[in-house]
Amino acid sequence: MSNQTATASVGEQMRNDPAIASAIETIVERVRAHASQITDIRPANPDLKVSYDDLLERSAAVKGRGLLYPTLSSGAGNGALVEMADGSVKWDMITGIGVHFMGHAHPEVIRAQASAAIEDTTKHGNLQSSFAAYEFGEKLVRLAQRNSRLKHAFMTTSGAMANESALKVCYQKHFPASRVLAFKHCFMGRSVTMAQIGDSHAGREGIPLSTQVDYMPFWNEVAVEKVGGATKFIDHCVWRLQQYIDRYPKMHACFIFELVQGEGGFNLGNRDFFRALMECCRANNIAVWDDEIQSFGRTERMFAYEMYDLGEFVDVFCVGKMTQACATMWTEEYNPKAGLLSGTFTGAGVDFAVGSALLDHLASSDYYGPDGRFAAHHRAFRDQVRGLMDRHPDWFGEALFTKELVGGVGGMMRFTPFGGDKAKIAKLCKVAYDEGVILFYCGHGPYHVRMLPPLPVMKMEDWPRVFAVLERAMAKVASED
Ligand SMILES: Cc1ncc(COP(=O)(O)O)c(C=O)c1O
Repeated sequence: MSNQTATASVGEQMRNDPAIASAIETIVERVRAHASQITDIRPANPDLKVSYDDLLERSAAVKGRGLLYPTLSSGAGNGALVEMADGSVKWDMITGIGVHFMGHAHPEVIRAQASAAIEDTTKHGNLQSSFAAYEFGEKLVRLAQRNSRLKHAFMTTSGAMANESALKVCYQKHFPASRVLAFKHCFMGRSVTMAQIGDSHAGREGIPLSTQVDYMPFWNEVAVEKVGGATKFIDHCVWRLQQYIDRYPKMHACFIFELVQGEGGFNLGNRDFFRALMECCRANNIAVWDDEIQSFGRTERMFAYEMYDLGEFVDVFCVGKMTQACATMWTEEYNPKAGLLSGTFTGAGVDFAVGSALLDHLASSDYYGPDGRFAAHHRAFRDQVRGLMDRHPDWFGEALFTKELVGGVGGMMRFTPFGGDKAKIAKLCKVAYDEGVILFYCGHGPYHVRMLPPLPVMKMEDWPRVFAVLERAMAKVASED
C-alpha cells in the first residue's frame, strides 16, 4: 500500500506536470507547423491516386455501399481548408454536417485533444467518470441559464440519443400522454423513434410505426402571403394545434420545436408564430422541447431560443454536433425519476475537453448580435450569392415555396440555384467537390445548397475564393443542360 503524502491527487499532479504541459505545447506547435503548409485548394496528388482508390473501395466494402462523397481526410487541415488522403485540399463548407465548427487544426482544439489524451481511460460513463463530463454540462447549463429556465444536463454520445432522452423526459412527466407534435420537414436523428418523428419518407421507409405524431405547418413566407399576412397564418396554425388537442385530449406529451430547421431546408421561423404555439402548449400542459442540435452556436445568438427571445418557454432542450459531446437539458419541473436516463458511455474525454474549449471560445467572442462576426459572414455569403445571380440569372429559376433564393442565418447558409431541382443540386455538390469546395444539400423539395462553414476560422477574404470555385462548378452543371 502506498502512503498518501502529496496534497494533490496523482491525476492533478499529472495535469500540472510542466513536462507534460510542455510536450502538449510542442504537439500544438508541430501540428500548426505542418498545417500551415495548407494555404489553398489543390488537386489530388497522382502518386496517391491508387492507394486512395483502394481506401475508398475498402471503405465501401465495409459500409455495403459507396461513400456519398469520395472523402477520406488525411488527418490534416488548416482553418477552413481540409486535406484528403489523396493529397487534394478543399474548402470545407460543410464541416462533417456542422461538427468541425472550429475548422481544421485549430490550436485550441489540438491542445484540448492532447490534454485529454493523457487520462487513464478514453471513455466516461454514467457509473465512472472524471469531472470533465460534468464540467462540460455545468458550462452548458450556465450559458443556457442566462436566458432560460434550463437547469440540468444529461450528456450523451449522439444527437439522436439526446433526443431519445428528451422524449423520455417528456413522456414521464406527462404520463400517460403518448402523442408527439412536430413540424412538417423536421429532422431528429436516425433512431427508430426519431426516424418516425422526422418528416422524411426515406428516413423511415420499412420502419414499423409505433409513435403517434401530429404534424403542424412550419413558418413559410410564401404561405403567409397566400393566406393574407402573418396574423392570419398564426391564427390558422393555432387553430390547427387546438384541433389536435381537442381530438386527443391530454394525449400530447410534447411539441418538438426545431427553431431553425436544418435538414428540412434551413427554414427560419418567426417569434410571434412560435410564441403563439408555445403559449398554447403551456395552456394545455404540453412540453416545449427545443432541438438545437444543428443550430446551436451558429445563429446570431448562441441559442436559437435567444435569437427569438423564447427562452422562458423552453422545458426540454437538446444540443450536439459542434459541441462534440451531446446533451439533453431540462428545467427543474422536468427532472426525471432515477433510472430513466443512463447508459454505459456519456462520451470520450476528448469530446468533453474539446466541447468545453468550444463553449469557452464562443462565450468570450465577438461573434453574436446583429453587428457580430457571424452576421457579417452571413452578409458576405449573401453578397456572393447575389453576385452569382446578377452574373448568371439563367442559373436561378423560381423555386416552389421559396420567397428568397438565398437564405438562412449566421453560419446556416443556403441558396437555391436551378429551381431547387434535386438532381441538379446533387450534381452540383459532386462537381463542386471535384473543383475544391465541399458542400451538401438540404430541404425536401425544393432542394437547396447548404453550407455549415467553420465561421470562427473564416476570413472575409475567403468568401470570394470559395465562390470562385463554386462558380466554376455551377457553370459546369449549367452547361450540361
Ligand atoms: C435538428 C437535429 N436533430 C437531431 C439530429 C441527430 O443528430 P445525430 O446525427 O448526432 O444523431 C440532427 C442531425 O443532423 C439534427 O440536425
